[in-house]
Amino acid sequence: MAYRVILVEGNQQMLERLSGVIRSAREFELAARYQRAGDALGQGSVFKPDIVLVDIDSNDNVSLLEDFVATFSAASVFCLSDKWTPSDSEVIAKAGARGFLIKPFTADELQEAVATFAKTGISAGAEVFSFFSSKGKSGKTTLISNLGFSLAQKTGQQVGIIDADVQFGDMAVFLNVAPKTTILEAARDINFLSPVTLNGYFAPVDDNLRVLCGTSRPEYAEQIGIKNFTEIIAMARSMFRYILIDLPQGFNPISIAAAEASDVTYHTAMINGGFEIQHMQRALEIFKAWPDYENRVKTIFTRVSPCDKEERHKLSQALGYPVAAIIPNEYMLVSAAANNGQMAMRVEPDSMFAQTVNRLADDIIGKTHIRWGNP
Ligand SMILES: Nc1ncnc2c1ncn2[C@@H]1O[C@H](COP(=O)(O)OP(=O)(O)OP(=O)(O)O)[C@@H](O)[C@H]1O
Ligand SMILES: [Mg+2]
Repeated sequence: MAYRVILVEGNQQMLERLSGVIRSAREFELAARYQRAGDALGQGSVFKPDIVLVDIDSNDNVSLLEDFVATFSAASVFCLSDKWTPSDSEVIAKAGARGFLIKPFTADELQEAVATFAKTGISAGAEVFSFFSSKGKSGKTTLISNLGFSLAQKTGQQVGIIDADVQFGDMAVFLNVAPKTTILEAARDINFLSPVTLNGYFAPVDDNLRVLCGTSRPEYAEQIGIKNFTEIIAMARSMFRYILIDLPQGFNPISIAAAEASDVTYHTAMINGGFEIQHMQRALEIFKAWPDYENRVKTIFTRVSPCDKEERHKLSQALGYPVAAIIPNEYMLVSAAANNGQMAMRVEPDSMFAQTVNRLADDIIGKTHIRWGNP
């Protein structure tokens, strides 16, 4: 059965153009169209629409969004605008609109938008977590891939992973996906994208889990501009509930920009009998430049043995900073899973590794379960 659409567009020419697109789209039917929002609100209900498209560039249509959502309570309200801005997405999500489309849109984009936003609607803003390491081999790619899986499963909400380890990112291998597009194309195109079209640059991994993979060649990394990179994060905030970012090791323009754009940066280090505590201390000194670093910088140790409360306490003491999570030494499990393109969480859901990752996911969900009014 076709979706019944009501179109509200102030500009006559655009109204004609978009009407044509809707009529040509498979599985969509233009039930009614209006230039004035007031007319649509007064007369539209009789058409029993499934989707109401409201141009928010005209007049004060944004302030009428709540009325649209209430009047067409059986329908999904989508906003139309010339350009996407982060502040728009927050306002329209709060008003109860489900999604957003840049106009003029194509039939494919309309179909994509409905599919993208059908499940969860536009997000009013994700929680963004980046994973930093002073040195390489911290266990963070293993952790992020499994944590993403856990968050998606536990919450049923959209989770996005961004592989910003731009030169040697290997998230695609860990997640066993062959991406058609990567962070390179997303950064190149970002000024022309909206949350719907950016979504297509992420490869699907699992129910509610998608990944934007790293570049396919190290030399491409330098083509990723910092401004465009941070715009990817800003736009992704309206697509996902949780975003996990894998960073290149050490302080560099990408890792600094991502940490700045994140709600929380997890400094991850693997216990190796080396100098991981000292390296983490030195990095923490840099993060202390943020006045609110105690809330924004957390620490995780991987490959911890024994992986218990006492060991965590010992590590906190040695570090002189709280340790947010410890992940056990489970080399056989995680390496075999990664080699087979599987997630350790799924291969052995009762393992200690899975339990600690699930606990970290619970911490994240617990702290952020109130969607509105969070700072
Ligand atoms: N909890 C763990 N216990 C034991 N070994 C682990 C654990 N987590 C990861 N490893 C192993 O450590 C190695 C590095 O892991 P991973 O690639 O996740 O780290 P990384 O910090 O992303 O490394 P890179 O700097 O290469 O990006 C891998 O061989 C992985 O199998
Ligand atoms: Mg890695």
